[in-house]
Amino acid sequence: MCPNGIRGKPLSYACPVERLLDRLGRPIRDLRVSVTDRCNFRCVYCMPKEVFGRDHPFLPRAELLTFEEIERVARAAAGLGVEKIRITGGEPLLRRDVETLVGMLARIPGLDLTLTTNGALLAQKAQALRDAGLDRITVSLDSLDDEVFRGMNDVDFPVERVLAGIDAALAAGLAPVKVNAVVKRGVNDDGVAAMARAFRGTGAVLRFIEYMDVGHSNGWRLDDVVPAAEIVAAIDAEYPLDPVEPGYRGEVASRWRYRDGGGEIGVISSVTQPFCRDCTRARLSADGKLYTCLFAVHGHDLRAVLRGGASDEELAETLRGIWSARADRYSELRSAETEGLAKVEMSYIGG
Ligand code: GTP
Ligand code: 5AD
Ligand code: SF4
Ligand code: SF4
Repeated sequence: MCPNGIRGKPLSYACPVERLLDRLGRPIRDLRVSVTDRCNFRCVYCMPKEVFGRDHPFLPRAELLTFEEIERVARAAAGLGVEKIRITGGEPLLRRDVETLVGMLARIPGLDLTLTTNGALLAQKAQALRDAGLDRITVSLDSLDDEVFRGMNDVDFPVERVLAGIDAALAAGLAPVKVNAVVKRGVNDDGVAAMARAFRGTGAVLRFIEYMDVGHSNGWRLDDVVPAAEIVAAIDAEYPLDPVEPGYRGEVASRWRYRDGGGEIGVISSVTQPFCRDCTRARLSADGKLYTCLFAVHGHDLRAVLRGGASDEELAETLRGIWSARADRYSELRSAETEGLAKVEMSYIGG
C-alpha cells in the first residue's frame, strides 16, 4: 500500500507522492480552500447579523488570493499527498467566475474536487460547475420548514430555492450530492425526521452536523448541541438504520444505511465524539493563510510566500514545514482552557 494510504491502489503501486506526516503521525490528504469571506446568508450559528452587519470589514479584493495563486498552492499540496480539494467560503458561488477556478483545479490529476455551498445560486450555476470539472457538491440546508429556514439563514431566503439548487445539482450529475444540516437544540431539531423522510430515496445523502463552538461570535453553549446519537435514534425509530463502515480512514461523517434500501445518512459528531486522531485536513483562507485546524488561532501566511517570489519547490518546502510541525487536536481537548481562545470564524476559514 502507498505509505500515504491512497485508496484503491494495489500493493505494488509506486507512490508518486512523498510520505509527509504531522507530529501525531497524520498525513495531509484534504485541502479546503475558502475563496471569499462574504456570504449572502447570515446563519445564526455562523455569521450572526449583530456581528456581520452592513459595515462589517470584509476582505478587500486585492487581499484575496488570485485563482493562479490558489492553483499553485493546490498543486504543491497535491505533490505532498492531498487527494481531495473542497472549495468553500463564506459562500463560494459569490466569488466571480468561480467556475474558472474549478476548471484550473480539475486539471490537477487524481483529485476529488468538490464544493460546499448554501445553494442560493446553485440552480443557475450547477451545470457550469459540472462542465468545468467539479466532481460533486455539498449543499447546506438546515430545515425544510420554510419559516424555520428563513429564520436560520436570517435573510428571509426561501427553502424552495435551495431545493431547486439541489435538484439542479442532481440533474447535472454532481454525484453524490450531500446535504449538510447543522442541528441546534430548540431551533430545528424537531425537523430532523422530516428531513430524513424527504431525502430518502432521492440520491442525495443527508448529513446532520453537531453545532460547534467555532469562532467567538455565535454564543455557543453546550446545551444547544443535539448529540449525533440522539439524531440517529430519532431516525432509527421511524426507519431502522444499520451502521456502514467508513469509506476511508478519517472520514468525518459516521454513516448509516436505511435497512429498507432507502439510501444512507451521515452524522458529524465533532463535539460528542471528536475525530482529531485521523484528521488529515488543512484549510486555506481567502487571503492565503494556511490553518492546520478549524479551531486554530494562527494561520501561516502563504500569500507572503507566493507574492515574495518563492519557487514551486520553496512553496512545497514551506508546506512541508507547516504540516510536519502540526499537533492540533482541538476537539479532543475542548475544555475550559480552550473556551476563551480567540478562534477564527467559520465564514473566514471555511467549514
Ligand atoms: P466528504 O468529502 O463529502 O466526506 O466531506 P466531509 O465529510 O469532509 O464533510 P464536509 O466537508 O461536508 O464537512 C461537514 C462538516 O463537518 C463541516 O462543515 C464542519 O462543520 C465539519 N468538519 C469538517 N471537517 C472538520 C474538521 O476537521 N474538524 C471539525 N471539528 N469539524 C469538521
Ligand atoms: N457548527 C457546525 N457546523 C457549522 N457550519 C457553519 N457553522 C457551524 C457551526 N458553528 C457548517 C455550515 C456548512 C458548513 C460549511 O459548516 O452549515 O454546512
Ligand atoms: Fe453563509 Fe454558510 Fe456561514 Fe450560513 S453557514 S452564513 S451559508 S458561510
Ligand atoms: Fe482536525 Fe482540528 Fe477538527 Fe480536530 S478540531 S478534527 S484537529 S480540524
